[in-house]
Amino acid sequence: MSVWWKDVVGYQIYPSTFNDYNKDGHGDIKGITKKLQYLKDLGIGLIWIGPIYKSPKVDNGYDISDFYSIDESYGNLDDVKIMLKKAKELNIKVIFDLVLNHTSSKHEWFIDACNNIDSIYKDYYIFKDPVDNKPPNNWKGFFQESVWTYVEKINKYYLHIFSKEMPDLNWDNKNLRKEMYKVARFWLDLGVDGFRLDAIAHLSKDKTFKDSKLYKDDLVYDTSKFSNRKEIFKYLKEFKKEVLDHYDCVTIGEVGGCATTDEALKYSSYEDGYFNMVFNFDTCWENGAYGSIDKNDDEIKTNVLNMKKLFEKWYENINGKAWMPIYWLNHDHPRVVSQYGNIEYRNKSAKMLGLTLLFMYGTPFIYQGEEIGMSNVNHDSLDKFTDVNAKNIIKEFEDNYNDYEILRFLNRTSRDNARTLMQWSSKQVNYGKIYLNENYKVVNVEDNLIDEDSILNYYKKIISLRNNEFHNEAVYGKFKLVYRNNKDVFAYKKTSDKTIVVISNFRDYIVTFKDYVSDNKIILHNYNDVMISNNKLVLRPFESYLILIK
Ligand code: GLC
Repeated sequence: MSVWWKDVVGYQIYPSTFNDYNKDGHGDIKGITKKLQYLKDLGIGLIWIGPIYKSPKVDNGYDISDFYSIDESYGNLDDVKIMLKKAKELNIKVIFDLVLNHTSSKHEWFIDACNNIDSIYKDYYIFKDPVDNKPPNNWKGFFQESVWTYVEKINKYYLHIFSKEMPDLNWDNKNLRKEMYKVARFWLDLGVDGFRLDAIAHLSKDKTFKDSKLYKDDLVYDTSKFSNRKEIFKYLKEFKKEVLDHYDCVTIGEVGGCATTDEALKYSSYEDGYFNMVFNFDTCWENGAYGSIDKNDDEIKTNVLNMKKLFEKWYENINGKAWMPIYWLNHDHPRVVSQYGNIEYRNKSAKMLGLTLLFMYGTPFIYQGEEIGMSNVNHDSLDKFTDVNAKNIIKEFEDNYNDYEILRFLNRTSRDNARTLMQWSSKQVNYGKIYLNENYKVVNVEDNLIDEDSILNYYKKIISLRNNEFHNEAVYGKFKLVYRNNKDVFAYKKTSDKTIVVISNFRDYIVTFKDYVSDNKIILHNYNDVMISNNKLVLRPFESYLILIK
């Protein structure tokens, strides 16, 4: 079945850092509109724009205080309409981030619920009485804290699986559900082409609220208490019937690190799923980038074998039954060129990563700046980190680790890495406080555009091959790992009318591989010459080929 969202290459825009049109130091909608042509030239057919609704921005917009208005730092509704119109003209689809799991603590429903014991909105959230003057249970949330915060005025705790400024909504409440359907309809009626559904795996909680006994700790991180619970599917069925079935839209659920492939199918199978696809995190978490604080950076080496097997597992369990988005990173992960590539080989490794991903399977998403090889921050002090989760990590570790260790950990893993300003030009002026990576003088779009050998121009070639000459192979071809037990090289075949092979060396040293090159046609290669020795293909650091099998 050919549908537009399978055929396109997606691009994620993190609005606060993408493009600052009004020069106030913060990205805006007009800035996005201005860069649509840039995205068109790159070959992009779908953009996912992070939340731009009214928000106190404790979690950069995922804490929404009014679902119907645009935060003034981004512009206004008219700006959105103009952006959507321009995107339509360019044939770029636009999806918004829809946050159904929580609101901001500054949302009027929550304010009323906390101030008025008879509030009609109390049941929109999850309030519980204290137990022995303590929180109702020992659950720990995603941002390192207890999921409970006390409200003195009504002598109750409320539940929040993210930060305390993001109270969870109670999806058992029918009125609340209706409100959230109205929100979705509002944006679809305005002309957005669909949604990325934030934190969707968490809509339902274990309503027994019993302590988790997994580990004997004060707080227990047991996401099964609030992830992928069966009631979710009841809600999603209703959501689909009430909203999604009435629109020609695409939906991509974020089911994160806690969903198995079977669970992913429940959300998104062709047969009886609710969304068109779901994002999982497996392949972003490979190589311990989210691993231990105890590790030195140089102890972290990509486990290519495991990574390949993860991509293979998702393909084998999902292919034919559902469709998948595929990506290296989003705004919650470190930069991929720092994580799986190597900034000393920025040009080669970024190109290698682009090719490896974009011919694999599914609908690929590029995260802003990936196409020019933007890399992690290199902060010299802990106060430079701005992400709410990074700040909580600092608090969590400060008693047992020194600043250097925490700094090393956050520079490697924190969400701040993906949230620096997009690097447009070597002359870029930073009008505000959002961090601009100091390498912008050499890593930027303007210079990439004029350098034939740049990462950006290579991405354009990859995307153009995917969109045109090798569309069937890249998008619909059968995926099969080649020499799957090789621990350094990620190589695979894609077969449709033609057979192509991608061969990528993930190492910063030379490795040898079967010679696919001599008898076949090289379509794309990130080195200028071919090295063959004793009938073996010699792959230099991060060398990567796209080959057409004759
Ligand atoms: C999702 C978002 C993340 C946000 C969280 C809470 O995981 O990707 O950035 O912090 O949901 O909304």
